Amino acid sequence: MIKVRNVRKEFVQGQERTEVLKGVDLTVEEGEFLAIMGPSGSGKSTLLHLLGGLDTPTEGEVRIRQSDLSQMSEKKRTIFRRQHIGFVFQNYQLLNSLTVEENVAFPLHADGSLTKEDDKRIQQLLGSVGLEGLGGKRANLLSGGQQQRVAIARALVNRPSVLLADEPTGNLDRQRAEEILALITRLNRENNQTIVMVTHDIFAAGFADRIVLFKDGVIDQVISRKDEDYAQYLANFLA
Ligand SMILES: Nc1ncnc2c1ncn2[C@@H]1O[C@H](COP(=O)(O)OP(=O)(O)OP(=O)(O)O)[C@@H](O)[C@H]1O
Ligand SMILES: [Mg+2]
Repeated sequence: MIKVRNVRKEFVQGQERTEVLKGVDLTVEEGEFLAIMGPSGSGKSTLLHLLGGLDTPTEGEVRIRQSDLSQMSEKKRTIFRRQHIGFVFQNYQLLNSLTVEENVAFPLHADGSLTKEDDKRIQQLLGSVGLEGLGGKRANLLSGGQQQRVAIARALVNRPSVLLADEPTGNLDRQRAEEILALITRLNRENNQTIVMVTHDIFAAGFADRIVLFKDGVIDQVISRKDEDYAQYLANFLA
């Protein structure tokens, strides 16, 4: 479903070139829940942006459902993204002048018109992320954790076949984090949504089917729930 082949990503600023991804190969199956972990600055968000078609690789291929994102025009990528991908940004990227409801509704219709069904869906999603009653509030008046949950609801509103979430529980307390992870896991199982989640939290990563460990722009290690030493691996992490 998602295929990353020999992907390199370089950023150029003036004379300076930084190679952030140094040859990444990764396949994520349809309906899989994958977690990506690794040190700050190792390239996790950069990779997630490439998976979401928000940026293009310097070299290599990113395919989602047979479509090669790296070969698409920007316009085509934008349309593809709207149809298939939900993205939770590390810094949320809410529209601050809009209300919570308007933010969640944003991906639904370009012209802002909402059907009764849409409205029902938005209220239901706000309930699922624990924000019932806050729909009319302006996004910038919410706490960091509340904003994060608006970002999650917005990413889910279109029922994307692929959910890409950059530290979606990074600003939440343990109980809220558990609720969000349970929600994501349920969507993954019931709707066969493919999920790639970047996280610093091994507790969150423990919800995934596989954990990819990133190090300095390459995949250092992959551990699967099916592996015999999976439980031991998680325990070592926590020790
Ligand atoms: N647009 C950009 N221009 C230049 N450098 C960039 C750009 N985006 C990312 N980088 C650099 O790429 C490296 C990896 O960044 P990235 O955001 O992918 O790390 P990360 O693994 O997500 O880290 P964190 O855990 O802190 O979120 C960093 O050194 C960063 O400065
Ligand atoms: Mg990041």
